[in-house]
Amino acid sequence: MYNPNMLILGIETSCDETAVAIVEDGIHEIASVLASSADFSIETGGIVPEVAARKQLEFIIPVISKTLEQSHLENSQIDAIAVTVGPGLIGSLIVGVESAKALSFACNKPLIAVNHLIGHIYGNFVDSKKAVEFPALVLVVSGGHTDLVLMKGHGNFEYIGGTLDDAAGETFDKTARLLGISPYYGGAALSKVASECKESNPILKLPRPIMHSNNFDFSFSGLKTAVRTVALAKKFSFELIAKEFEEAIVEVLVFKTIKAAKKYDAKSILLGGGVSANRRLREVIEQESEKNGFNLHVPPLKLCADSAVYIASAGFFNQNKLELKDIQPNPSLGIADEIK
Ligand code: KG4
Ligand code: ZN
Repeated sequence: MYNPNMLILGIETSCDETAVAIVEDGIHEIASVLASSADFSIETGGIVPEVAARKQLEFIIPVISKTLEQSHLENSQIDAIAVTVGPGLIGSLIVGVESAKALSFACNKPLIAVNHLIGHIYGNFVDSKKAVEFPALVLVVSGGHTDLVLMKGHGNFEYIGGTLDDAAGETFDKTARLLGISPYYGGAALSKVASECKESNPILKLPRPIMHSNNFDFSFSGLKTAVRTVALAKKFSFELIAKEFEEAIVEVLVFKTIKAAKKYDAKSILLGGGVSANRRLREVIEQESEKNGFNLHVPPLKLCADSAVYIASAGFFNQNKLELKDIQPNPSLGIADEIK
């Protein structure tokens, strides 16, 4: 039921960020504060889960207080709390979920459990200038997940396909490390190298794995292996390999998304997740959506990365009425788990 001027406080701690936001009616950002321990992860060449969770324990109360301060609202004006329950790192999720439960209990406000991957989709709904027309075909591309979902409306999702092995973000990260571009979360750095590469070499052609399969699944582990083989051969520059790698992964993602959108008569196409910040992906999907008559929605860059803003938004549009004792962190929650 639509409840005007509903204020939801969202909490997101699935990875190495501690993020809190307040969103009105699921669509207006009122306040948003984020603290990250990414600097430690860069130093160690990856996330050390215990370090991330300990930092989140340190950050969570100051970040909640700062968000309320920024919003100029009183605690009592918040109508509900939404929290990411998974997927993610267990220690990190525990910090967010237990803080949200304590807040909900103490302030007597309902708590809404949010799947982080569904949250990513709502990056398209906050302060957006154009309304999403349903059904919408959604490509969620994050560090750990790559899924195609048909969104028939809020809370009404159908799983279409997903990766059989590595996620798109993971493939970007592992390739960036392999090419010596960046040791950790190197997707954006690899993309920068690719965009600055002026070379072209028609001989270098990496595979487009299962692009023409008759389903909507993806597989990227073979692409990663192909990059390793080409890199070891030392015939091509790492910049050129990065450029061809990005072309290959983007081509597969866009080809299957458009094919699914046609098959399911979608009116719109939505992107979500960290990889939806990728400049080349945004460019190619825009061209193809326009060519095929789909309305494209891409989240603003700040809502591609992990954020509590879209967790609060997803909480507003997908209000579940669970008892506090039934809300538990679930590190291996998938997008398909949301689909009844
Ligand atoms: O959604 P996200 O912030 O975290 C998860 O929920 O996993 O996604 C992070 C992923 C990382 O793999 C990161 O390298 C990738 O998104 N990423 C990018 C870009 N920006 C972030 N990959 C390719 N190009 C980018 N510009
Ligand atoms: Zn994410």
